Amino acid sequence: MKFEDEVKRRRTFAIISHPDAGKTTLTEKLLLYAKAIHLAGSVKAKRASRGTISDWMKIEQERGISVTSSVLQFEFEGSALNLLDTPGHADFSEDTFRTLAAVDSAVMLMDHAKGVEPRTLKLFEVCRMRKLPVVTFMNKLDRYGLEPLELIDQVRDSLALEVAPINWPLGMGEEFKGVVDLATRDIITYDAEGRRGEGIVGSERVGFDQAESLLGARAFDRVSEELELIEHAGDVYSHERFLSGEVSPLFWGSAMSNFGVEELLSFLANKAASPGPRTTEDDETIRPEEDRFTGFVFKIQANMNARHRDGIAFMRVVSGKFERGMDAIISRSGEVLRLSKPHTFMAQERSLVEEAWPGDIVGLYNTGKLRVGDTLSSTGGIKFAGIPRFAPEHFGQLRLEDPMKRKALDTGLEQLSQEGVIQLFITPGQGGQNPYLGAVGILQFEVLKERLKNEYKVSVQFVKASFSRARWVGGEPEALDWLRATHGYLVVEDRNAQPVVLTDSNWNLSYALENAPGLELYDVEPM
Ligand code: G4P
Repeated sequence: MKFEDEVKRRRTFAIISHPDAGKTTLTEKLLLYAKAIHLAGSVKAKRASRGTISDWMKIEQERGISVTSSVLQFEFEGSALNLLDTPGHADFSEDTFRTLAAVDSAVMLMDHAKGVEPRTLKLFEVCRMRKLPVVTFMNKLDRYGLEPLELIDQVRDSLALEVAPINWPLGMGEEFKGVVDLATRDIITYDAEGRRGEGIVGSERVGFDQAESLLGARAFDRVSEELELIEHAGDVYSHERFLSGEVSPLFWGSAMSNFGVEELLSFLANKAASPGPRTTEDDETIRPEEDRFTGFVFKIQANMNARHRDGIAFMRVVSGKFERGMDAIISRSGEVLRLSKPHTFMAQERSLVEEAWPGDIVGLYNTGKLRVGDTLSSTGGIKFAGIPRFAPEHFGQLRLEDPMKRKALDTGLEQLSQEGVIQLFITPGQGGQNPYLGAVGILQFEVLKERLKNEYKVSVQFVKASFSRARWVGGEPEALDWLRATHGYLVVEDRNAQPVVLTDSNWNLSYALENAPGLELYDVEPM
């Protein structure tokens, strides 16, 4: 296959959702329909048995959750799909945000009984910032949920996003009969029997003329009315506007009962975005078709095997062809790295990869030379624009149990913050001592404690701080003086010596914005 065709057929995406919306279930069903696994249940079973790849962290085992994200690669209808997993649990980290820097589209999964939930909102904001195309999937139609029209209004209003239904549900819960394909008006019927199984269920299509007998007169009238409304007053799907993130195609279904999964998968394979270009710090645009190989590291998972001090750096290929054994230059350090043991991922299996194309994710053995955000290239001299950090919401400090371990602690904190496990904030004038730590999810502190203990042999206690808000400070210099002089605000510095204010409420933030002359606050690290 020609290079351009390999690029064009790639679809790199992530599923964003609130915990419990059904992401694990949907992931598994996508794999099932792509015939990448043969029986549903294997991903979950692995999750339960805590198999190979995520064995490395005890916290994961204890809590039975996946702290770190992984990558799945599979084929469908001639496309090569890369699904990047984003941890969806209450505790999540910047990994989740960074993963969205490595994809070209996202599936926004919602429980139709809940609609837009806080985590969905937050992740969607990141998608919007990146202008990612977003496909919406309303899940759990086999249960009762919100009225479809109401749900659409909710999404439109709370996300300020146009949504264009591709299909439309016929009832819900016990009365769920299937969906209407809006393009053809065919009805795809749902058969509850046999849908609890683990295998693939084919869908049946019947003409809309059978709708009335299928639904009964009352339900038919209601659906006809709804269809009329959305066809006349609803947002219209346009492929260009989908690709620019302005309109989101909407699907309905039930991941658990395999309904609507195939339609979603087919849409992703055929319509989701192909690998896009990325911008460098010098504002140069690197297109996937370029000859030279380039890529960036968006995630590092350290010490997957406790006996080795190695880890895996997840790299997204941006341009050119990647080949096993090639040399690549790390822009930050100028070091040359021979990429001799690259891996791809299927479910939780790893296998050696010989070649990879733009959009693909390659796992590289990392002996400590690679950091999150690093650019790798065949030529050197290029650096992709950084992956921004987000304002943490949990804060604390560490108390060292053995004062002799200060140096090891400093090294550990430095490295783990580089990796993005936590963010470090230095109080000016204290010589870097006792920094504040910030994290997007509270579990990160436990991850930090555990890793300090295992990898740096340092035992610490975590002392929670009373702050709950952090903002990067910009605007007039007087504003900074105001914050420094006012009770209830602490001005610290981030890794790049940029000022950050810590405080404990939104009210305090608003008060500062109203009263500090020329103050500007940012919840994403200014680049
Ligand atoms: P998550 O990864 O987003 O957190 O969600 P997960 O897939 O684990 O699903 C959360 C719960 O929702 C699970 O139930 C799952 O079975 C259920 N679920 C997912 N999709 C559907 C659907 O289409 N319809 C219905 N009715 N339920 C769905 P659980 O009781 O927490 O786990 P389990 O015992 O079923 O594994």
